[in-house]
Amino acid sequence: MFSASVDRAQPKPALYSDLALSLKSLLEGETDPVANLANASALLAQTLDRINWCGFYLRRGEALILGPFQGKTACVRIPIGQGVCGTAAARRETLVVPDVFAFPGHIACDAASRSEIVVPIVQGGILRGVLDLDAPETGRFDGEDREGLEGFVRTLVPIVDWSALEDVGRRT
Ligand code: SME
Repeated sequence: MFSASVDRAQPKPALYSDLALSLKSLLEGETDPVANLANASALLAQTLDRINWCGFYLRRGEALILGPFQGKTACVRIPIGQGVCGTAAARRETLVVPDVFAFPGHIACDAASRSEIVVPIVQGGILRGVLDLDAPETGRFDGEDREGLEGFVRTLVPIVDWSALEDVGRRT
C-alpha cells in the first residue's frame, strides 16, 4: 500500500516539492486516468490543511464536467467562461480568489467555501480541465500555493491519459 509521507508542517515550497514527488510515486505504473485523478485528489486532501474541497473538472466540448474529487457533492456542469472554474479555463490562467463572495459569478457548491484557487490543465495546447481547491476561510491561497499547485498540475499532465477521458465523455 502506498503511504504518502509529506511533512505537512514544512514551509509551502518544500511541501509542494514533496507533494509532486509523492504524486509521481503514487501514480507510477498505473495508466487508468480515473484512478489516477482520484488518487491525485486524495493526495491533495490528505496533505493540505484548511481546505474543504479539492478535485478536477474535465473538459467536454464547451463545458467542464465534474471529475474525481474529495469533499461534499458538487455542481456537475460548468460552462467554460462561467464561475471561477470556467473563467480560469477560458483564460487558461490560474485564478486565486481570496474571497469568493467578491468574485462576480462565483458558483457556490459547498456553502462553507470562502476562498478558492483554480489551475487550468493544458496538455500540448489542449485544455483538458481544471484543478479546483476550496477553503473554508478567506485568503487561504497565496502565491506559493499558486506555484505549488501549478507544479502539481505540471507533474500530473504527462502522467494522465487525457485522451481516454475524452472517450469516456463521448459515451455519456
Ligand atoms: N466555485 C466553483 C464551482 C466548483 S466548486 O467550488 C467545487 C466555481 O465558481 O467555478
